[in-house]
Amino acid sequence: MGEARAGDLLAWYDRHARDLPWRVPPGANVRPDPYRIWLSEVMLQQTTVAVVKDYFTRFTTLWPTVGDLAAAPDARVMGEWAGLGYYARARNLLKCARVVAHELGGVFPDTEEGLRALPGIGPYTAAAIASIAFDRSAVVMDGNVERVMARLHDIHTPLPGAKPVLKAEAEALTPAVRPGDYAQAVMDLGATICTPRSPACGICPWRDPCVARAAGTATELPKKTPKKAKPVRRGIAYLGRTPEGGWLLERRPDRGLLGGMLGWPGSAWAEEVPEETPPLPADWQDVGAEARHTFTHFHLRLALRVAVIDPAAVPGNSALHVLPQSEFRPSDLPTVMRKAFDLAQGTADTLVDTRPHRETE
Ligand code: ADE
Repeated sequence: MGEARAGDLLAWYDRHARDLPWRVPPGANVRPDPYRIWLSEVMLQQTTVAVVKDYFTRFTTLWPTVGDLAAAPDARVMGEWAGLGYYARARNLLKCARVVAHELGGVFPDTEEGLRALPGIGPYTAAAIASIAFDRSAVVMDGNVERVMARLHDIHTPLPGAKPVLKAEAEALTPAVRPGDYAQAVMDLGATICTPRSPACGICPWRDPCVARAAGTATELPKKTPKKAKPVRRGIAYLGRTPEGGWLLERRPDRGLLGGMLGWPGSAWAEEVPEETPPLPADWQDVGAEARHTFTHFHLRLALRVAVIDPAAVPGNSALHVLPQSEFRPSDLPTVMRKAFDLAQGTADTLVDTRPHRETE
């Protein structure tokens, strides 16, 4: 059982690197575009490669440079981000793009420290960009790297307590040559071989030095301190439709959950049974189904009401506004609001306009 060597992992990466839309393949002899690396790493925080791929392609087609993204209207960017979750990322993405475009001449800083100073760039993202885009020998810690290190050294201390130890092990292995390829190689190893449930130890480039493989403990690692159970919160959402087929929507405040995103007006979300708080008077009908969605800290159950509303009754001085049918794109909604729309649409279609109206002659 020898020492784990970065060179063995790099040789494996040269043959097995995943083909990803933001990646420059090993040996290509060109530097990646820092804008594309930054965008991919922000999207990849908390989100899987499979989900990110299409969003990344769409963003870079719409906005090929950081200047293009900086010039995009907020609502357009938030709409394209819809479905990726963790919407603070999208607000910080725009802030960061505007700082780089307007204050740094469109050029990303090339050090971890310089990158850390930008909105939305924490230790992980700064290290990932510094190594992948600028080939700096930064220690990139994510869930994949933690799992690989815990197994390689058979570390049984549970996460998150084990983080400093795992980081020290990762630091000792990070090479001075090809650090960018090395960082991506560990991520690929974690995603394709050293997977959480059934690692393919037989074909791993680090099978010989791996202590957990020898001990038969790989699948148990890393150990984790059990998380607290998530509470259930409840709310009511009101989906108002105009006789012409437009929808009553609300831009949520920038701060807080789903900040800056479009959504249905409604009650607060709390553990108590919510009170009816319709955004305007109408004949609100119960859809009889609830939209369920799990956020980081709670499960949400959203009761749904639909009604035909009078566009003239919408107060002008609020975040409420009617989007005409031709401008309403369900894909602009965050997932929970999209689920509500999908569930309520059938009921909304059965509603008739009960407001008093003139007979046609
Ligand atoms: N996960 C986070 N960053 C990644 C990258 N650059 N390549 C593959 N998986 C990743």
